[in-house]
Parts: sequence; structure tokens; C-alpha cells
Amino acid sequence: MSKRFYITTAIDYVNGQPHLGHAYEKVITDVIARARRSMGEDVFFLTGLDEHGQKVQQVAVAEGKNPQAYCDELAASWKNFAQKLGLSNEDFVRTTEPRHKEIVQTILSKLNAEGHFYKATYTGFYSTSAETFLTEKDRLPDGSFDASYGKVAELKEENYYFKLKDQQAWLIDYIEKNPDFIVPSYRRNEVLGFLKNETLEDLCISRPAARLTWGIPIPFDLNYVTYVWFDALVNYISVPAAHGDPKITESLKLPKNSGQPPVELWAADAHVIGKDILKFHAVYWPIMLKAMGLPMPKQLLVHGWWQKDGQKMSKSTGVSVDPIAVIDEWGLDAFRFYVVRELAIGPDGNWTDAGFQSRYSAELANGLGNLVNRSLSMLKKYRNGVVPKVSNELAPDADKAVQETIANLRKYELQDALASIWTLVNRANQYVDQTAPFKLAKDPTKAERLDEVLYNLCEACRILAVLLWSYLPTTSEKIYQQLGLTDSPNKLDAAKWGLLKEGQVVGEPAALFPRKDLKPT
Ligand code: MSP
Repeated sequence: MSKRFYITTAIDYVNGQPHLGHAYEKVITDVIARARRSMGEDVFFLTGLDEHGQKVQQVAVAEGKNPQAYCDELAASWKNFAQKLGLSNEDFVRTTEPRHKEIVQTILSKLNAEGHFYKATYTGFYSTSAETFLTEKDRLPDGSFDASYGKVAELKEENYYFKLKDQQAWLIDYIEKNPDFIVPSYRRNEVLGFLKNETLEDLCISRPAARLTWGIPIPFDLNYVTYVWFDALVNYISVPAAHGDPKITESLKLPKNSGQPPVELWAADAHVIGKDILKFHAVYWPIMLKAMGLPMPKQLLVHGWWQKDGQKMSKSTGVSVDPIAVIDEWGLDAFRFYVVRELAIGPDGNWTDAGFQSRYSAELANGLGNLVNRSLSMLKKYRNGVVPKVSNELAPDADKAVQETIANLRKYELQDALASIWTLVNRANQYVDQTAPFKLAKDPTKAERLDEVLYNLCEACRILAVLLWSYLPTTSEKIYQQLGLTDSPNKLDAAKWGLLKEGQVVGEPAALFPRKDLKPT
């Protein structure tokens, strides 16, 4: 058994419908997972849903539904959404599943027995929408709390606390010694700044069942349920535990999974998360793991937030991008392409319909689509669809694009990798213009030159299909089919110039990205 490359997304709250932000995170994680597979690695990609807590309970109650029934309904539509995005996840976790709840309870009992928790009374302010206690430090200069906290109520209640105060020093040290633990580096600096300038408060890990019932019961005190973040973060190890991961099985003293062979997943290679949930992943999660005796995840890959037309997306203002509507109108690959091409993993992005449409027509329809279509159409027209003998004229350009793409994919520079791929799209389109095969075809003395040009174009299209597989799996498969190839473009090993064989008969060319009349925006 060898360790698999284990990558996760944040698990989404089921208190509404998925939007662009959720879709973006899942797509970039999927591209990384597919890229690793295409490099020959054994990958385990996990995504799923965060179903407990006040936010979900409130929506369920407002809709007059029992929370479990409400979650079951939404989970079905979020699972469809994962399919709609073309995700290649190995598992899908729901925090209401027994396999997850049992592990949360095992961890709570273990940490409690080892003295990590204490009970205390808290008097102060509580934000329901952020599910967090607020202190004097959270007040604005005018004494109020930021509107993002929603309704803030005064509370006096007893709860269980997880001791964090003594953990600050080793965590700072760990983050400083492991520069790749949090990327991009400005997010790492943000965490270090926070840890160095503020004293960590102990974390309240319970909520009284009298106030909130929708959570995992605290096993040693059934008057309480588990704080939703303590529950949610555990998904990253409860799923490996369910698959018999040896490190987790050992540290939590779980019974060995009889029957199925164990799957080695922990430590995670990357947790892909948005910038708003960095503190939970960079501070609380490492401390929880250390208390459990488990190694740290290798990396937190922190992405930025999308806006629409320069405005924050929100239910109340109705400013939003519905990924399903975009996919239905423009196709899945066009959506996947745009979000990764437009935004690197790190900074914030801005969706505009005009920007989407302009990339669709310039880069997909006129760039990639046109290249494949005219290359194959010319081969059909001038050579009956039969690939001529190997020619290496574009090989150096292709090799360079391949190397750059792989180097960028390894660094999770997904946007740069796409730009590297497009150097070959552009080079090949320029090659058509420079060599003018339609003119060569009119002159019988140029037949050999035409053979060369056609081979170079078709082989460039094949290499592009291989490079694009992680991003645009459907398009990439279509290019292979149109080339008459029966295997899958899903291995980067195939991005070697010259593998397209002389005598290969191509299939029917068909538009990959139909040109559309642009709508006024
Ligand atoms: N349930 C928690 C995560 C628990 S992980 C153990 C949560 N859920 S969420 O539904 O609010 O957000 C899920 C992910 O979507 C987060 O990583 C968040 O950053 C991301 N996004 C939500 N809105 C976003 C944008 N507008 N843009 C980009 N990503 C955003 O937080």
C-alpha cells in the first residue's frame, strides 16, 4: 500500500443553492486532482457538505422542515451540482452520515479524556450568523458590531472549551519552518501576523442543546452538541478513517476495517479553501490535529473571492452568478475554462458576462476550436482524412509548451499552465496563416510540404488534447475522437511529439465551441 495524493475542498453549507464561489473552488481542486492523475499519481479527491449548525437549522425551520429532511433534499441537488461541474471526486462526505459523526465523537472523547477541554461560563455577545462569540475587540469604533455579524445577542452560558492558549508558540514555529504550509505567501503572513500580535482565546467547542439541537451530541455530556467547525474540520480525517487509513486508525485507536484493504491518505497533500476560512484551517485545525497526535496537512491552498461586476455576491441583493445557468447555456468546459483562465489561485476575481463571452469567442471558439476544426477539415479535404508521415516542425514549440505546462501544474499555477497551453494554440494558428495550406493544396509540386503542414497541425491538436484534459475533459476527449483515436487523452505521457501515427484515419470534425451571437450586456 502506498500513500495516495489526497486533496480536499471546503465542505459547503447546505443553507442555500450553490453559486460561483462554490463552483470555482471545486473546479480548481478538480483540475489539480486530474492533473496529478494524468501525471500517473494515485489520487483521492474529497468534497462534500457541512450540514450541521445554526445556519442550516434556521433555514430548515424557516421552510417548515425537519433539518435532516431538509439536508437530504439539498444534498441531492448539491451532489447533482458536483456532477454538473464534471468533478472526479472519489468520495462525497455529508457531516450527518454515521461514519463521520462516530469519528467526531471518538475524537471528542479522546481529547476530553486527555484533559484538552474544560467547562466554563461565558457572558458576552454571540453572532448567530457567524456562529461565533464576540469580544470587546470585535467592536467598531462607534461601539457596534460589524453588519456582517448579523444580529448580535447577549448571552450567559456554560460551555466546553478547548485549550489553545499554550499552542501559539509551536504553531508560529511550525508555520515559519514550513514556508509551503500556507500558500500564497501573503496568506501565510496574515496568519503569522495574527498569531504574533494577538493572544489565542480558548475555543468554545460546544453549544447547549437547549439553544441548538442540530449538531453532533457531545458524547460525555448530552446536554450539548458540537460546535459546527469542530465537527466540519474533522471531515478531512473521518473519510480517511472510513477507508481504513492506518495513521488515523492508529492514533484514534479505531477497530481495523476488516474486509477491504486500507487506503493510505493522511496527511492530506492539499486542503483547498477560500480566504475567509483561513483561520479555522491554519490555527484551529493544526491544533486539533496535534492534540490527536496526527501530522499536519502538507498545504493549505488559499483562493480569493469572486465578485460579480465589482460587487459582493449576496442573496439579499440578488447579485450572483448561477453556474448551472452558465453551463446550460455555454457548456461545462467553457465555464471551467473561464474561471481558471481569469483568476489565479490567490487574488480576488471579478465575473463579468462580457469578459466571459469575450474569452469564449477569442480563446475557445476562434482559438482552440477553430484550430482543431480547420486542421481536421483540411486533412479530410486534401488527404481523405489520412495522417501523413511524421514531421517535426512544430515539435520544439510543443515540447516547450508541454514542459511549461507540467511545471506550472506541479506548482498549482493553473492559470499560468493554461497560458502555456495557449502558446501552442496560438503558435499552431499562426502556422496555418504562415504556411497557407489552402494555397499549397492548389500546387501539386507542393504536395510534400502540404503533408508536413497537415501532420504538424494534427499532432499539435493531439498534444493540446492531452494538455487540456485536466481542464476541459469533455473537449479533450472530443478532440481525440475527432482524430479517430480510441484511447483517452488522460495521461501526460502521451504529450510526446510524434505519437500520432502515419496512416491514422481521422473522424468527422465538428465544432467544439459553436460561435454564438454575443448578447448585449
Ligand atoms: N462550511 C464551511 C467550510 C467548512 S470546511 C471544513 C463554509 N462553507 S461555505 O459554503 O460558506 O463556503 C464554502 C467554500 O466556498 C469556502 O472555501 C468559501 O471560501 C468558498 N466561497 C464562498 N463564496 C465565495 C466567493 N464569492 N468566491 C470564492 N469562493 C467563495 O465556509
